Amino acid sequence: MFAPSLLRQASSFRKVNSLRPVISFRGFASQVKKDGRLAGKVALITGASSGIGKETSLLFAREGASLVLVDVDDKRGNEVTQAIKDMGAPAIYVHADVSKMKDSENMVAVAEKEYGKLNIVFNNAGISHADDDDAVKTSEEVFDLTMNINVKGVFAGCKYAVPALKRAGGGSIINTASFVAILGAATPQIAYTASKGAVLSMTRELAVIHAREGIRVNALCPGPLRTELLMKYLNTDEKKNRRLVHVPLGRFGEAAEIANGVLFLASDESSFVTGSTFLVDGGMSLSYLCFSSLEGITAAYVTPL
Ligand SMILES: NC(=O)c1ccc[n+]([C@@H]2O[C@H](COP(=O)([O-])OP(=O)(O)OC[C@H]3O[C@@H](n4cnc5c(N)ncnc54)[C@H](O)[C@@H]3O)[C@@H](O)[C@H]2O)c1
Repeated sequence: MFAPSLLRQASSFRKVNSLRPVISFRGFASQVKKDGRLAGKVALITGASSGIGKETSLLFAREGASLVLVDVDDKRGNEVTQAIKDMGAPAIYVHADVSKMKDSENMVAVAEKEYGKLNIVFNNAGISHADDDDAVKTSEEVFDLTMNINVKGVFAGCKYAVPALKRAGGGSIINTASFVAILGAATPQIAYTASKGAVLSMTRELAVIHAREGIRVNALCPGPLRTELLMKYLNTDEKKNRRLVHVPLGRFGEAAEIANGVLFLASDESSFVTGSTFLVDGGMSLSYLCFSSLEGITAAYVTPL
């Protein structure tokens, strides 16, 4: 553990995320490619109103997919859908709470009704509850809600997607887990960590069981990202630096960088990839010894704020 004064001093050495991605992820958003990597495919994306789901929806549209965007945030979901339509790509928005079996069944039915088939499902919707804490402090309600959305939501998405993908002659399912399913978390969030472990295990079973049906199932494990979900907790440079000390690339990831990983798993380019634990984490899972983000300090474990 470091003395608070040391950490204060250390966090003043540099501003968080001074190491920006070398590529600009904006500016090529408005064109649909004629021979895109998902040309002719129909894709359903949950949690499409924001963050990873939104960036993936925009990227899939540019790569030629027809889209079903799913969320509970109808206002933002409709805005993303309209932006995709404005690009000239087919897209519809469906309100569905993925923790409700009927809603999940309906979103798949709408996809098949609208486009006649379904090829790709990205089960991405998830929450990280503000009151999710350690085992002693976390309430039953918070635990149940997190498991219902993050785990049952993925189960429901797969339950109804598998028969639809079979009808289409095969397909690709990507389930969003997290690096915490591999590493655990420095910040106590027992329900979230448990839920992402379940998504990872469930994905492995799905991949094996449905492999001979031509359905690939992979678990996407993002590292810490500069999205709303995380930044609302890491709201000071000091808190951000506590996380960044563990990330070799020295910055938070961007949702658009995760979307690029999802595109690979969704497309036929990953035709021999199934059951994988697909980490897009800035090298975080390898950082047994940490870089000197906190100057003069090398640490493998930093206690949470
Ligand atoms: N942001 C990170 O650092 C990070 C890291 C690892 C994994 N993840 C995971 O990535 C996924 C997306 O995260 P994000 O950062 O884009 O978050 P986000 O909060 O920006 O987006 C999540 C979306 O899911 C929607 N949603 C929430 N509950 C829903 C429900 N019951 N039914 C349908 N939609 C619902 C929200 O309205 C929101 O639009 C989540 O599963 C999250 O756990 C995020």
